[in-house]
Amino acid sequence: MNTLFMHCRPGFEGEVCSEIAEHAARLNVAGYAKAKTNAACAEFVCTEEDGAERLMKGQRFAQLIFPRQWARGVFLDLPETDRISVILAQLANFPTCGSLWLEVVDTNDGKELSNFCRKFEAPLRKALTQAGKLVEDASKPRLLLTFKSGREVFLGMADADNSAMWPMGIPRLKFPRESPSRSTLKLEEAWHHFIPRDQWDERLSGEMTAVDLGAAPGGWTYQLVRRGMLVTAIDNGPMAESLMGTGLVQHLMADGFTFKPRHPVDWMVCDIVEKPARNAALLETWLGEGLCREAVVNLKLPMKQRYAEVRRLLQRIEEGFEARGIRVEIGCKQLYHDREEVTCHLRRLDGKRR
Ligand SMILES: C[S@@+](CC[C@H](N)C(=O)[O-])C[C@H]1O[C@@H](n2cnc3c(N)ncnc32)[C@H](O)[C@@H]1O
Repeated sequence: MNTLFMHCRPGFEGEVCSEIAEHAARLNVAGYAKAKTNAACAEFVCTEEDGAERLMKGQRFAQLIFPRQWARGVFLDLPETDRISVILAQLANFPTCGSLWLEVVDTNDGKELSNFCRKFEAPLRKALTQAGKLVEDASKPRLLLTFKSGREVFLGMADADNSAMWPMGIPRLKFPRESPSRSTLKLEEAWHHFIPRDQWDERLSGEMTAVDLGAAPGGWTYQLVRRGMLVTAIDNGPMAESLMGTGLVQHLMADGFTFKPRHPVDWMVCDIVEKPARNAALLETWLGEGLCREAVVNLKLPMKQRYAEVRRLLQRIEEGFEARGIRVEIGCKQLYHDREEVTCHLRRLDGKRR
């Protein structure tokens, strides 16, 4: 049980290793991180038996940037037949779990295993239930089995309220056909990730106003309009006519880095492809000057040291607000719909706009 196994976007294994190693050091958990390039997963192998558990207890999963899912446990070789008996035998060391997810890593090989998992799940679930290892209880840990092949599985567990919201950390969001671009799913996923569902009515209400910087053709504006908000869309490019027809969008051809609204708004979102430091600076300006209360801004990461860059920017933002005496909640995540980028969410906690 001394290994922490993490899923991630292929190509970001190094970022996961750097990030988890930093948290392990902070929590005095001895061990080392390892990963293969493009494997879409990484491990932190702890020196002590309770290391992975301490690491998970000391760190909120939602605050990790690059891992999409995590579980602590062990790798297990499986025979070609009767895999269930071997899994059950190993589970003798596990507590009774409250739910079961079968997962694969986000690679082509992983995708090919999805069919196997689908067929395997029902008999496994039945056997685990009969053996008293699985009951339906959200307060008990979730059993997470990541199949690396039909012959190797990572047998892990994680608290349901301190791990991914969806299997493999991949949300099943339906692309709305009326949206002018696929990027729309980035903003929708950001809301799922950063805003608890029971707060959507209050924090994404139809009474609100929003500014969308770099809005064209309008995938993000579409999400804001879908919530009923009045949106000022800033872009030199054209907005989709379907959106303009709603009467909820004002399109201004202006520079997103200099535009400021005449009156404060509730939301600012920004998906401009620019140096991440410039987009991060927008967060400081908009929330710091009380131009908005909440913001979602995408930070593109074309550089090599991507984790180091994100940490540096987040630290600068944190210090900037601290110096001004402004309390903010800061979140940052590489969402499933993000590519070479991460999404930042900021919210003012003092309730004041100015
Ligand atoms: C990735 S696209 C945005 C896609 C949009 N979020 C959507 O869902 O349809 C980036 C947009 O930023 C715009 N852009 C680039 N630099 C800008 C600037 N300085 N001010 C405003 N918009 C800018 C581009 O014209 C482009 O339309």
